[in-house]
Amino acid sequence: MNEDLVYLNGEYLPQARACVPLTDRGLLFGDSVYEVVPAYGGRPFRVSQHLARLDRSLAAIRMRNPLSHAQWRSVFERLTEPLRGRDHSIYLQVTRGAYPVRNHVIPSEVRANVFAFCMPIPPRDPVVATRGIRAVTLDDIRWHRCDIKATTLLANVLARAQAGDAGADEAILVRDGQVMEGTASNLFIVSNGLLITPPDSPELLPGVTRDLVLELAHEAGVPFAHATIGMAELGNADEVWLTSSTREIAAVVELNGRRVGDGAPGPMWQRMDDLYQACKERLRLGSECHDE
Ligand SMILES: Cc1ncc(COP(=O)(O)O)c(C=O)c1O
Repeated sequence: MNEDLVYLNGEYLPQARACVPLTDRGLLFGDSVYEVVPAYGGRPFRVSQHLARLDRSLAAIRMRNPLSHAQWRSVFERLTEPLRGRDHSIYLQVTRGAYPVRNHVIPSEVRANVFAFCMPIPPRDPVVATRGIRAVTLDDIRWHRCDIKATTLLANVLARAQAGDAGADEAILVRDGQVMEGTASNLFIVSNGLLITPPDSPELLPGVTRDLVLELAHEAGVPFAHATIGMAELGNADEVWLTSSTREIAAVVELNGRRVGDGAPGPMWQRMDDLYQACKERLRLGSECHDE
């Protein structure tokens, strides 16, 4: 029942009564940004990092955050409070707002529409988690500001559909011979014991999960590097992972129909996944884990 609750512009409403006008620029132009914050046992995870990225996305589209971080935290608290004990993700979106005239020019007087609601995260299936996923590589046809978490995701949606047509779970996007990220995930490879992820750039989203994986690697003494990854390095990698707030760390065991490593999640994945799961468990039990 309480999953039905929506925050909309200062009010808490049932989903059916939460409406934005058809002239909202988020609908007409994709003129909006979003975040997805996982909440384990009802406790939002890595809130500061998600809010910092929201600020960066908004600044990049010439908007100020309509809510302070304290206000966002209290929205998260109110939405997750009835869901204590269960895992959810909080979806939030800030659109530029509704304006009666459809015109590409950004109106000077327009009030943002802000909304958020919770969605259940299905319990992790240990069999699926330990079996790994399949991926294919596809041409990255997205724009050159993929560092903005914009709702304009049609290229990602179509790439995911193409991956599905090929019997894969995710597409890994390749631009000018460089491997960037998944349609909704960041990419890691393990090569000769070294964990590698592509460097920050306008061509990929700086993932909150990716940063956590790097923090955990640092603490565990696992060597890592930010470096560009070409197709040959991807193809020869010992392990390939995709990370996101909802997917966590997923091991890719099949790439373009060929086995990765020995076709099962590798030992480095197991090590990092254990650390990641321990972090989630500490949060569930009420202690902060890598949250600030
Ligand atoms: C394109 C893209 N890259 C990476 C990610 C992973 O980001 P995060 O770990 O913050 O969920 C996402 C998440 O949705 C994404 O859409």
